[in-house]
Amino acid sequence: MSSFALRRLAVLGSTGSIGRSTLDVVRSAEKRMQVVALSAHTNISLLTEQIQEFRPQIVVVTHDPQNVSQLEKTRQIAKESGTKILFGAESLTQIVIRDDVDIVVSAIVGSAGLKSTLDALTVGKTVALANKESLVVGGELVMDTAKKYGGKIIPIDSEHSAVWQCLRTRTNQVTENEQNTKNIQKIILTASGGPFRNFSSEQLKHVTVADALTHPTWQMGKKITVDSATLINKALEIIEARWLFGVLPSQIAVVIHPQSVIHSMVEFSDGSVMAQLSPPDMRLPIQWAIDYPQQFSCPSKKMNWTENFSLEFFPPNLEQFPALQIGLEVAEQGGTAGAVLNAANEVAVDAFLQEQLPFHKITTVCQTILNHHNYERRPTLEQLQAADHWAREETKTWLSR
Ligand SMILES: NC(=O)c1ccc[n+]([C@@H]2O[C@H](COP(=O)([O-])OP(=O)(O)OC[C@H]3O[C@@H](n4cnc5c(N)ncnc54)[C@H](OP(=O)(O)O)[C@@H]3O)[C@@H](O)[C@H]2O)c1
Repeated sequence: MSSFALRRLAVLGSTGSIGRSTLDVVRSAEKRMQVVALSAHTNISLLTEQIQEFRPQIVVVTHDPQNVSQLEKTRQIAKESGTKILFGAESLTQIVIRDDVDIVVSAIVGSAGLKSTLDALTVGKTVALANKESLVVGGELVMDTAKKYGGKIIPIDSEHSAVWQCLRTRTNQVTENEQNTKNIQKIILTASGGPFRNFSSEQLKHVTVADALTHPTWQMGKKITVDSATLINKALEIIEARWLFGVLPSQIAVVIHPQSVIHSMVEFSDGSVMAQLSPPDMRLPIQWAIDYPQQFSCPSKKMNWTENFSLEFFPPNLEQFPALQIGLEVAEQGGTAGAVLNAANEVAVDAFLQEQLPFHKITTVCQTILNHHNYERRPTLEQLQAADHWAREETKTWLSR
């Protein structure tokens, strides 16, 4: 292997889809990457396997362990591996601020990921950010924190990674947090359209949980898979892009691209459009974020240029999928609006997964809760947490009616 800079990682949410793909990238990186810390919420048995394989210095279990015999086994394996175990969400801070961690992979799902993202940025770490909710909920605060303390954010979300890569290729004076946005005409986020792209309003009323969990192109965690089906995922990504790249919501467009090969595009002021292409496989944007600016071969799938294939693009159907308009409005409002949208959506998706809310009502619930929240323009972390709490309670009340 040619010379390289060692990447010492804390992987938050190591038992999830992004966490597991991250560890796959680490496996293929030989000595280039080292796992210092891991976190899991409920899946202690997988965490135990990861401890055995990667021998991290420290792990955090954020949920109260339910299975006592499994916990005993985990403690034993951790002892043999020289790994310390901490419990509780507050312990995440201890692992992200460690001196021997260079990069924090923020891959917890939902607004639960915000605090550790902020903690890492506060001590000037580089955050490889999968947890888009950090920017949806606290976009302005997160970007200000990065700027103030010298922290860096490199996106893992494939669309934002694509935009990031295009910007780095075309503009040469960008730094991680201060993009050269003056030549950007438009950021074009691609969306597969999800499994119900061509469904009528009537068909959307009969979508089952199993239908919604079958994504045509990506293998992901349950919450983001449902978000992709409602297109709320794309709404969250509009908000994420607005903060990450510092552009106006009017500079962000969405195009339906069912093949998920072009991950996003940037149109520059001279009319030139740059796109990033690769088969749908999260290991590429993960490796890009962890290794940047190094580039080594990646275990992700590669394009096959010897076969016939076509790439299609369609404008999104805003009537069937009102989520996109909500995303643009929330990106415009900023403040507490993102926290409220995200919390309402998390509760609504959970209710849908428990078959307590029909699929087509998820977006309606989000819009209803957003319509009557007490908006705060420049919220602190505490105000964001209060808005999140209020929206969860309000959504539960709405659902119980
Ligand atoms: N999957 C993708 O392809 C993809 C692509 C782009 C962006 N993202 C983003 O990446 C993040 C992770 O997505 P995912 O698909 O990997 O989700 P996932 O498969 O559901 O995994 C979520 C991870 O977070 C942990 N977790 C769940 N609730 C938690 C809590 N309250 N506190 C602390 N940890 C908690 C889980 O632990 P246990 O499993 O141990 O319970 C698991 O390790 C999301 O923000 C998502 O939007 C994902």
